[in-house]
Amino acid sequence: MPAQLIDGKAVAALVRAEVSERVRRLVARGRAPGLTVVLAGDDPASATYVRNKEKAARECGIRGETLRFPADVDAATLEAALDRLNADPEVDGILVQLPLPPGISAEDARRLQRRIAPEKDVDGFLPQSQGLLMLGEPGFVPCTPAGCMRLLAHAGISPRGRHAVVIGRSNIVGKPMAQLLLAADATVTICHSRTPDLPAVVRGADIVVAAVGRPELVRGDWLKPGAVVLDVGINRTPEGKLVGDVCFSEACEVAAAVTPVPGGVGPMTIACLLENVCVAAERRLGIA
Ligand code: GUN
Repeated sequence: MPAQLIDGKAVAALVRAEVSERVRRLVARGRAPGLTVVLAGDDPASATYVRNKEKAARECGIRGETLRFPADVDAATLEAALDRLNADPEVDGILVQLPLPPGISAEDARRLQRRIAPEKDVDGFLPQSQGLLMLGEPGFVPCTPAGCMRLLAHAGISPRGRHAVVIGRSNIVGKPMAQLLLAADATVTICHSRTPDLPAVVRGADIVVAAVGRPELVRGDWLKPGAVVLDVGINRTPEGKLVGDVCFSEACEVAAAVTPVPGGVGPMTIACLLENVCVAAERRLGIA
């Protein structure tokens, strides 16, 4: 039987409708929540992401603003902008769009990210946010892993007692994803580029989360029949086609449920970002 398709676009639309309702309640209490994106440089992919974030925010009634800086901006200028945003009571959520331009050193980039006030860290990238997640306490959860958990819940799939294999150990997807699955009572294995015999590990998985950025790395014969597959990858082939980290057509023959690319995990990231902006605004009002 071909796999159930987990429709991220449809679930994201539901999340955004919930966000719109929360925004209406916040407006009734005096003010729409505000999100400010700091965008430096002219990376075309970043420009597209940021436009999509602005549009989605506006559609939910969130005040979305982008501060744009040229590619040769220095770290001190960005730092001063972040300090102003941290102090601005109209701004509930702040994010620094990554990657920063090549002129900003890795050390400066890390320092800039950490300049965001923890209560406005709607990306959930700060050590405080990640630490709270590890401790199982309320905080901001990074948007892509949060989106994956929402997709599982919507599809009626509980991680409890399941073996989940996360492929990828990034700070913004792999590691927080593993924490969320663990908190949901899954037994979790994190794999990466040095994992020997990756196919054998994946074959033991009831739930697979692929987040490595390698086009169609995961093949159908790596999957346990009936597995649930969440594909976080977005890769462009030389022919210009978008593909995930999983070979979709093969996975459909083996898995119980699969997310497509595009239209799976991707739309959930922005929806969960907007949700985090609501959480930030509600916390400031003492109602979350
Ligand atoms: N660049 C690509 N995705 C993201 C994201 O989710 N947040 C930030 N800050 N930068 C990104």
